[in-house]
Amino acid sequence: MTARSEKTARPVVRVENLVKRYSKKKLAGPGAEVRALDGVSFSILKGTTLAIVGQSGSGKSTLALCLACLEKATSGSIWFEETDITQLTEKEYRRIRRQIQLIFQDPVNSFHASWTMLEILTEPLALQGNVRRDEMRARAHVLLEQVGLSPEMEGRIPAELSGGQRQRLAIARALTLEPKLLILDEALSALDCSVQAQIANLLLELQDSLGMTCLFISHDLAMAAHLADEIAVMSRGQIVEQGPPDKILKEPESRVTRELLAAVPRLNFSRPGMAES
Ligand SMILES: Nc1ncnc2c1ncn2[C@@H]1O[C@H](COP(=O)(O)OP(=O)(O)OP(=O)(O)O)[C@@H](O)[C@H]1O
Ligand SMILES: [Mg+2]
Repeated sequence: MTARSEKTARPVVRVENLVKRYSKKKLAGPGAEVRALDGVSFSILKGTTLAIVGQSGSGKSTLALCLACLEKATSGSIWFEETDITQLTEKEYRRIRRQIQLIFQDPVNSFHASWTMLEILTEPLALQGNVRRDEMRARAHVLLEQVGLSPEMEGRIPAELSGGQRQRLAIARALTLEPKLLILDEALSALDCSVQAQIANLLLELQDSLGMTCLFISHDLAMAAHLADEIAVMSRGQIVEQGPPDKILKEPESRVTRELLAAVPRLNFSRPGMAES
């Protein structure tokens, strides 16, 4: 039996009938609202990845923000292990905050601008207080290598990095604390293909070694299929289709899924505009 097939059947996350409405009073008059999430339910088993795919504006980032407690849901529940995190006070949430890490597409504002890469990577461990400095530095170096960055860059600040390097730093930082749930919101989208593949494989390795659970949000159905055990397709704040990657790729049921499939160049062999030879 492979490690991947030994996953336990225990959900780490269970979302029930989640609704998030934003009011847009300023633009459309009093009472007008956007239903960014309109009754979303799913669970993610420990050690597995659920990919959420969907077109722009379908509610993916809103879902990520609610799961990371950065937005408050209008109604519904989000169970993280035994706790409904929609009901937590700020103080209670601080206890579990480290176990849920969210990485965005552009992490530029999530770093202290004057901190070096080494400081950024060791600060979460330093806060724990029981890890020696040389040990923290060694761990930071391992993480940097894992995400394809050189430990020799440890003294650089975020402004001295390219967009792709900053993204890899954000991923390394999120992994420092070995979170139980890692949410990636288009976190690989801006990286070039070889780095995407390297980080995708790192995520798969970490799942096997740490039993980490992932929510992977993307426009890219091919990458979602590579990484995920299950894919959920969102449209207008709802999950319109959910199933194993094979099923979604080969027998898509909804129009939205077929449109997303058509947009995947790696699955679409007859590229428009290419002369046949
Ligand atoms: N803070 C906000 N205030 C008002 N409306 C919002 C807010 N955030 C999101 N929305 C609206 O909620 C809907 C869902 O947005 P969301 O950002 O979750 O989409 P998305 O699927 O992540 O899109 P993308 O693929 O472009 O990132 C959109 O109609 C959006 O305009
Ligand atoms: Mg988004």
